[in-house]
Amino acid sequence: MKKLSGSLMFVMLVLVLIDIAVLRELSRNEVHLAALEQKVTTLQAPKKGALAEAMAHCQRWFEKLSLAGEAGNWPLAKYYADKLQENAEEVIASKVVDGGQDISGLVKSTLLPALAELQKAAAAGDSAQFTVRNQALVSACNACHETTKRGFIKVGAR
Ligand code: HEC
Repeated sequence: MKKLSGSLMFVMLVLVLIDIAVLRELSRNEVHLAALEQKVTTLQAPKKGALAEAMAHCQRWFEKLSLAGEAGNWPLAKYYADKLQENAEEVIASKVVDGGQDISGLVKSTLLPALAELQKAAAAGDSAQFTVRNQALVSACNACHETTKRGFIKVGAR
């Protein structure tokens, strides 16, 4: 009986030690998790200057899109129109607010519809429509620059 309770004590001790080891590992994991969560939050925060960067791409692709349309190179026009659309969708997803203005909302309500019309004209290979829709897109670019107190940024249609 004495021997039995001795071994029982030993087993209990081992169990307690295992418990301590498990708890320690768990709390170490928790620290790792907290650090990871912090990193994710930092990464998710909108990058400063990200909008200006997106706009720079926007301008480049827009110009190439115009040139492609002018040359009647419709597959190339589609390529750049898709780039512009991806770019716009990224701005929308980033929920950009600038000077209290909902830039993402404006991109969604003004830029995307104008771009969709231009894409239709390019898909139809309709040069006359392309010119009209291209001009409408430029107006959407500039209207938003006006709205966001960046009226001095005037994009020109080719
Ligand atoms: C929803 C509003 C909005 C729309 C639509 C928009 N822009 Fe902008 N754009 C801005 C804002 C705001 C800035 C200033 C960004 C900054 O400096 O942080 C800007 C800046 C720019 C710049 C200056 C950045 C640079 O690199 O020179 C260019 C060029 C530009 N936009 C081109 C365009 C073109 C081309 C289009 C249309 C295809 C367009 N934008 C549509 C809001 C808009």
